[in-house]
Amino acid sequence: MPARTDRKPIPDLTIVVPTFNERGNIRPLVDLLDAALNGLNWEVVFVDDDSPDGTAREVRAVGRERGDVRVLHRIGRRGLAGACIEGILSSVAPLVAVMDADLQHDETVLAEMVARFRDTPDLDLVIGSRNVEGGSSGTGLSAIRKWGSDVATALARKMLRITASDPMSGFFMVRRESFNAVVLGLQSQGFKILADMLSASRGGWKVAEVPYTFRERQHGDSKMDSAVTLEFLSLLLVRMTGGLVSIRFILFMMVGMTGLFVDLAILRLLLTQTDFAIAKSVSVLVAMTSNFTLNNALTYKDRTLRGRAFFRGLLSFYAVCAVGAVANIGVATAIYAVLPWWALAGFFGALVGALWNFVASALVTWKA
Ligand code: GDD
Ligand code: MN
Repeated sequence: MPARTDRKPIPDLTIVVPTFNERGNIRPLVDLLDAALNGLNWEVVFVDDDSPDGTAREVRAVGRERGDVRVLHRIGRRGLAGACIEGILSSVAPLVAVMDADLQHDETVLAEMVARFRDTPDLDLVIGSRNVEGGSSGTGLSAIRKWGSDVATALARKMLRITASDPMSGFFMVRRESFNAVVLGLQSQGFKILADMLSASRGGWKVAEVPYTFRERQHGDSKMDSAVTLEFLSLLLVRMTGGLVSIRFILFMMVGMTGLFVDLAILRLLLTQTDFAIAKSVSVLVAMTSNFTLNNALTYKDRTLRGRAFFRGLLSFYAVCAVGAVANIGVATAIYAVLPWWALAGFFGALVGALWNFVASALVTWKA
């Protein structure tokens, strides 16, 4: 077959834009990119988690008008970091940028980022930073969020040994080949993919930063909530274990701790009213129910069970925990028989029970 000569050139740059309920921002963003990236061969891919406001439909409409706008429409999934990862993986361009859809990130900085890669051939990453000379959080963050962001930045820099000034930024450009080298170690749950990437690169990346001013959101609402903070703290723990455990596992264990607390508190309360067996049965049931509810809202916030599925999930969670309790008692008793040290036997029993609960509820209750 003769080689085709009419092929479209591949883009120099893919811009990955994660979206959830951002319909009103799609056209304005594409227009801004047009104005900012004049002369560059670029494309934009919106990674949408089936937003109820019809964001994906809007992107398809724009995509039918021009060939450089794509959508990666994910069904039954949620999560910012995972959306960014899949968007980056979908690109064949040598450079990939990630930016928010809500116009808070300054698109005019993208050209400067590309120029940095051109000037420094072995550069791996350019970060859009609010914390270097010339950049700022502007009026884009409330005072409390600015404080939270500063604390998170300090924590990440210290605990993950990151030297960059703004590891919390959601605005960066990465060399596609460099990304491939770290992608297997990344957490798809969570909000802070940049901090995770920097940590996964173990200080081996050549990183540059360009200043920008974080703008105010025009349409729609922020998806940042308190769960994001817990996910971030879990990410720090994940990284400290060298990636041995997942964010989900850590959240599950944190919820488990609260369950222990609930169990003991209720037991203490009921013991004044009734005998031990009844008090303990009630406290265990309440603790299992609160564990399920918290895990459903937090640990599995990307696949929260609602309505009938909530009750079906709760029943399956009781069943899973019942087996976990038997395993807990069995293991503890077996250890105690050879090594009569109650704390050790009790601890390993609880550990095995908790591991069982984590794995089995993932498979049965949340079908992960
Ligand atoms: N696909 C997908 N799935 N996209 C999501 C999800 C999700 O579950 N959650 C949020 N997004 C999209 C939003 O639609 C938006 O385009 C972008 O991710 C950022 O979400 P915001 O809700 O606007 O976050 P923010 O403004 O509070 O925080 C952003 O800016 C900070 C400063 O740079 C994020 O990028 C933070 O990571 C960043 O620290
Ligand atoms: Mn935003």
